[in-house]
Amino acid sequence: MNAVSNTIAGLDRILTMELVRVTERAAVAAARLRGRGDEKAADQVAVDAMRSELNRLNIKGTVVIGEGERDEAPMLYIGEEVGTGKGPAVDIALDPLEGTTICAKNLPNALAVIAIAEKGSLLFAPDVYMDKIAIGPGYPEGTIDLDASPADNIASLAKAKGVPVNEITACILDRPRHAKLIEAVRATGAAIRLIGDGDVAGVIHTTDPEETGIDIYIGSGGAPEGVLAAAALRCTGGQIQGRLILDTPEKVERAAKMGISDPNKVYRVDEMARGDVLFAATGVTDGNMLAGVKFGRNYITTDTIVLRSSSRTVREIKARHQDVDKF
Ligand code: FBP
Repeated sequence: MNAVSNTIAGLDRILTMELVRVTERAAVAAARLRGRGDEKAADQVAVDAMRSELNRLNIKGTVVIGEGERDEAPMLYIGEEVGTGKGPAVDIALDPLEGTTICAKNLPNALAVIAIAEKGSLLFAPDVYMDKIAIGPGYPEGTIDLDASPADNIASLAKAKGVPVNEITACILDRPRHAKLIEAVRATGAAIRLIGDGDVAGVIHTTDPEETGIDIYIGSGGAPEGVLAAAALRCTGGQIQGRLILDTPEKVERAAKMGISDPNKVYRVDEMARGDVLFAATGVTDGNMLAGVKFGRNYITTDTIVLRSSSRTVREIKARHQDVDKF
C-alpha cells in the first residue's frame, strides 16, 4: 500500500470526512439562535464553533475567503492561519453562517459552508458584489453566457435541457436592483424563485433541479459567496460565470491589492476554484436540499452535503449526535 502523501490529493479522502465536522459544528451553534432576530449573535457563535473545529484539522490552512479583512474581523479573517500546521498547505473559503438574516428570521436555506483547495487555487475575491450566472452539471460548455440577455440564456438552457422555456425556473435574489432582470426573465415565460438571501444555496440548488426545482441562478450577490458557490460547482461539474462589480476607484484599487488587474474579467468555474477542491455545507434552517439542525431530546440531527472534485462524489451525511454536550 502506498504511504499517504502530505498533499491535499493524498489527504483529501480523510479531509472530506473531517470537513463535515467543521460545518456540522458551526451549523449547530447557529441553529441554537435561529429565529431570535439577532444576525450578529448567530454569526458570532457559528464563527467561534467553525474556528475551533477547523483548528483541529491536520492542515496548514490559510483563510482566503473569510469573515473580512483583519481589521474588521477578529476571527477567520482573510489571511488567518488555521489548522494544526501539520499537513498540506491549503487555501480555505468559508462562511460559518451563510444567510445571517435567514437564520435570524428562521427562513429556509441558511447554511454553514466551507471549501478547501490546494494552495493558490481559489480566487481572492474582495467583498464586493459579483454578477453571476450558474447552471448545474450535464449541459454543454457555452450553454450560458454572462453577457447574453436573460432571454437568450433561458432559451439556450431550455434547448439544452430539451424542455419548453416555461418549464425552466430561475433563482434570483429579491432586490430592487434586480427589477429589470426579473421583468426580462418573466417576459420569457420562465418561472422565478425569488429568494430573500442566500445565493450560495441558490447556486448549489441548480445542481439538482429535480430535487430543488431550480435550473439556473442569475443576478448579483456577494463575490465571496460566488467563489464558495464556484467551489461547489467545481466538485459537481456545473457551470458558473462571475464578474466583480468594481464600480468605484476605491473598489478597483482594493481588488488590485488582491491581485486582480482586469476589473472586467469574467471568471469561470475553474478560474474561481482550480485543482483539487473539497466542499461541505450543513443546513442550519430547513432548505430545499438540506434539512436544518434538529434538536431532539437525546440527540441532535444534522444534514450535510460534502463534495470532492477529484472523484465528483456527492455525499449527503445525516448525522445523529448523541454527545449533545459537545456542541
Ligand atoms: P450574509 O450571510 O452575509 O447575510 O449574506 C447573505 C446574502 O444574501 C448572500 O447570500 C448574498 O451573496 C448577499 O447577501 C447579497 O447581498 P445583499 O443583501 O447586499 O443584496
